[in-house]
Amino acid sequence: MDDFERLKSEIEQTIDAAQDLAALDQVRVGAIGKKGSVSALMARLGSLQGDEKRAWGAAVNRLKDEVTAALETRRATLGQAELAKKLAAERLDLTLPAAIERLGKIHPISQTIEEVIAIFGEMSFVLAEGPDIEDDFHNFTALNFPPGHPAREMHDTFYLPTKPDGSRLLLRTHTSPVQVRTMQQAKPPIRIIAPGRTYRSDSDQTHTPMFHQVEALVIDEATHMGHLRGCISAFVNAYFEQDKVPVRFRPSFFPFTEPSAEVDIGCSRKGGELKIGAGEDWLEILGCGMVHPNVLRACGIDPERYQGFAFGMGIERIAMLKYGIPDLRTFFDGDLRWLDHYGFPPLEAPSLVTGLGR
Ligand code: DAH
Repeated sequence: MDDFERLKSEIEQTIDAAQDLAALDQVRVGAIGKKGSVSALMARLGSLQGDEKRAWGAAVNRLKDEVTAALETRRATLGQAELAKKLAAERLDLTLPAAIERLGKIHPISQTIEEVIAIFGEMSFVLAEGPDIEDDFHNFTALNFPPGHPAREMHDTFYLPTKPDGSRLLLRTHTSPVQVRTMQQAKPPIRIIAPGRTYRSDSDQTHTPMFHQVEALVIDEATHMGHLRGCISAFVNAYFEQDKVPVRFRPSFFPFTEPSAEVDIGCSRKGGELKIGAGEDWLEILGCGMVHPNVLRACGIDPERYQGFAFGMGIERIAMLKYGIPDLRTFFDGDLRWLDHYGFPPLEAPSLVTGLGR
């Protein structure tokens, strides 16, 4: 049996000497593999008889168990060491500054939408969304465009193919249908903004077939034009980061508001350069008004009890004004050089506390 002890201690030494899992496996094959040293002892069984044979077999099996156990222990140790090494090699230092230049840029449209959300969020408006593909009811009828009303023609609508029942879906021509969807679902008081894509079959220097608007809707029992004016003034000052941008309301017409107005902000064009703020000129930035009683009624809200205001604003337009982007069409050219120039750093979310944009 001395041979057994010697072989055991030899194998244990080679197990301890194995420095990685691959080396340990070699040791395993050399010991308890088919042609290993322990397995070779088994071969002797054939030449033994009776008690001797039994004792030999038991001893070999014990040795095999002991070697197996020693291999397992070493495997666990080496496995842990290898895992620790791998984890150390793959370690990420999350406190390092980000490699911003590899993250790309935020598109000015996304940036502007985030700025608008930050400003109205501060005034406790809630974000609302609606589908790009709308039906006639939400895009027109509920907004007090009766069938055949000439104002429908102003929208150059993209229609989807007519369905068997004669109806046809459309790409929303404005974000105003989100007003309808909101009023159908929520009870007043309501205070939402809804930025999103809008579509009209129109393409020239100042129109793209897809563009963006942001809609605002406030419904409560005593909301009036004064609130609308204050809200728009506060927005314009915050967005253009000035104390007092002049704001002018001009009477206008929208089917879904009464009275309706278009809002101009003060600007100067002295020396051929456009500057927002007090100046000799005006620039239109949005349409607004008090929500028409017919719209409230179509959405299940009692116009005897509730009233409110709404407005809709073009995102591209206010982005161009703030960031001096001269050509509308370049927004959607997908030109990386343009994005690199007009885009925004990806990790600086606009907020009224940390600042809105450049
Ligand atoms: N939906 C209008 C448009 O696309 C903009 C608008 C005007 C929205 C007045 C409003 C509003 O909510 O009150 O031209």
